[in-house]
Amino acid sequence: MNKKKLAITKFLIPFESVTSCNRNLGWFTKVPKAPPDNIFGVLDAYNKDKSKEKVNLTVGAYRDDNGKPYVLQTVREAEKRIRCKNMNKEYLGLLGNLNFNKLTFNFALGEDNKFLKNGRAALCQSLSGTGAVFIAAVFLSTFFPKNKVAYVSKPTWGNHISLLERAGLCVKTYRYYNTEKVAIDFEGMLDDINKMPDECIILFHAAAHNPTGFDPNCEQWQQLADLCKKKSLYVIFDNAYQGFATGDAERDATSIRIFAENDINMAICQSFSKNMGLYGERIGCCAFITDGPAETEIAESQLKFITRSMYSNPPIHGARIVEEILSNVDLKNRWLQEVKKMAERMRSMRASLRDGIVRAGSKLNWDHITNQIGMFSFTGVKKEAVAKLKKDFHVYLLNSGRISVSGLNSKNVEYVGAAFHKVTSV
Ligand SMILES: Cc1ncc(COP(=O)(O)O)c(C=O)c1O
Repeated sequence: MNKKKLAITKFLIPFESVTSCNRNLGWFTKVPKAPPDNIFGVLDAYNKDKSKEKVNLTVGAYRDDNGKPYVLQTVREAEKRIRCKNMNKEYLGLLGNLNFNKLTFNFALGEDNKFLKNGRAALCQSLSGTGAVFIAAVFLSTFFPKNKVAYVSKPTWGNHISLLERAGLCVKTYRYYNTEKVAIDFEGMLDDINKMPDECIILFHAAAHNPTGFDPNCEQWQQLADLCKKKSLYVIFDNAYQGFATGDAERDATSIRIFAENDINMAICQSFSKNMGLYGERIGCCAFITDGPAETEIAESQLKFITRSMYSNPPIHGARIVEEILSNVDLKNRWLQEVKKMAERMRSMRASLRDGIVRAGSKLNWDHITNQIGMFSFTGVKKEAVAKLKKDFHVYLLNSGRISVSGLNSKNVEYVGAAFHKVTSV
């Protein structure tokens, strides 16, 4: 062994002694095991099931009529164009791709909206919708002056509560859903919001409420905006399904635009996971509406401070894809057509499922399946029936009775319909 090598090996500790004596990590063994994620737990069971008939109705990602993941043609086209540009891989900066941020904000608020034109939008690229909600929550838990209490709908997307709590907010719920009527509980919602302390935080799903699939209508959004204004609530809009809800991206932005028109203080958290199928690219945007350029500058300085200590710079590729699509009229129109087709496929699967259950002989009312919109349906199927669906029919859904409609296709929908009837008719 030469001299240099000998000098290095002198400092190497044998692996066994590192793990046994020197680690001194007694506390580590006391770390409690975290509960399994609700969705991924069911997915595990599905993956282990050997049945040829098994159906996965849990995953919140679009599937085509062959049950396969789908990459949008316009995304492929955008990637081709990006490749031709031979771009570098430099850091984007703490706020991400600034042009992407503007295009994304315009997509939510409308072209030529007064906020961007007047410097009233503090924008930050985020790690998709999840990252956008987290950034908004960290910002509010640090700076929101009054009640650091955030209200979410009951039920809501499971991750909302963890995200808001981890950011330091205290989370409470407002009524949203009437289990008996299998419908939105708008009166309960108004009542609970009225009882909230003034100047606290409230989170709304902009469109295609997850998990119920029920949204307030236009008049109801206006009523909610009036109430939020009266009580000076700070609103977080989670906008994870724009275009994917009804197939019309403009219509799906109604809630946000009503609130913006009414000058409600709000943050808008956007995702391109679903409507562009960019799940793994982790691309989204967190936007705060401000009073003007001076406030925007301050807010953006703090947004930079937050991202710097979380992950520093966001990823490049997803932002470039969205930028390419949203900045090119022809490509954007083609994309909107693709989104519409995906939404239409899901709508038609809703109708096929409802009809299939009825055809199988069910005397129950299943109209809520077609009254709901978006990717999810709160079927109203109870826990015991859900267990039977899994055990006897290999149909996997959440214990709450929520299904992802995109897991249905022309080959399995009749089978699922018959299974639903059998477990609910006893
Ligand atoms: C309501 C809601 N918000 C946010 C997200 C976040 O998704 P992502 O982080 O992939 O954008 C989801 C995903 O299912 C969702 O349902």
